[in-house]
Amino acid sequence: MAFARCLLYIFLCCILFKDLLAEEHFIVGGQNAAEGDAPYQVSLQTLLGSHLCGGAIISDRWILTAGHCVKGYPASRLQVATGTVRYAQPGALYYPEAIYLHCNYDSPKYHNDIGLLKLNESVVFNALTQAVKLPKSSFPRGTSELVFTGWGSQSAAGSLPSQLQRVQQQHLSSLACASLLSGYDDLELGPCHLCAYRQANIGACHGDSGGPLVHQSTLVGILNFFVPCAQGVPDVFMDVMYYYDWMRQTMSGNGRCTQVNQQTING
Ligand SMILES: *[C@@H]1O[C@H](CO)[C@@H](O)[C@H](O)[C@H]1NC(C)=O
Repeated sequence: MAFARCLLYIFLCCILFKDLLAEEHFIVGGQNAAEGDAPYQVSLQTLLGSHLCGGAIISDRWILTAGHCVKGYPASRLQVATGTVRYAQPGALYYPEAIYLHCNYDSPKYHNDIGLLKLNESVVFNALTQAVKLPKSSFPRGTSELVFTGWGSQSAAGSLPSQLQRVQQQHLSSLACASLLSGYDDLELGPCHLCAYRQANIGACHGDSGGPLVHQSTLVGILNFFVPCAQGVPDVFMDVMYYYDWMRQTMSGNGRCTQVNQQTING
């Protein structure tokens, strides 16, 4: 009897503890985004509505995301949910007609992890659905006003939050970033990378990949690499400014590759 009661207490404690953890570990460590907070945020999904990755609306026909989010997917197997902070209740759904993966995707490792989706119809903009501005110049280095949003899980083994999460992060110099990530041998930072960090227990997790890092309503990064999850090391982003020319060329139909053929997967 006493044994059973003890088990019951342990069980109740676990539930309580799990609730406490859940409260503290969104995105990881984020807060609920309000409707319209990040109107450029999309959820890249399977046709059944399973969330795969984040992404950003950059014009009425184009979505920017991470290369590893779209690699190997035919365009016909993906959908894009817009205009919502709840990925399961989209304001609208759009469908890609083509996917463009950077020609030097993952070469060297974790470099050029960037992809563009061309939608088969124009996004209808409204208060909850907007294209994000693209950078014209570098944002102030060291700034602490970088906002990252995503539906990524709340802990390494956790489930996805139904509501979009946001965290404010600080830009880290590549030197500081490289030293904090020095334990990860296969990660070689280059000029195409941007690092953002706040503190341990706050940061990106599974499902956040491809998501937008924004400085004063301008898109500056797309989530590339994180150590699952929020372990006290920086999150690594692709520098959108660095890929500006590639994006412009791809969107105007003049994408050129120097080393590897551009991979276009048509539906
Ligand atoms: C876009 O693709 C979807 C899914 O294949 C289809 O239902 C829709 O009719 C297409 N829209 C246009 C304008 O072709």
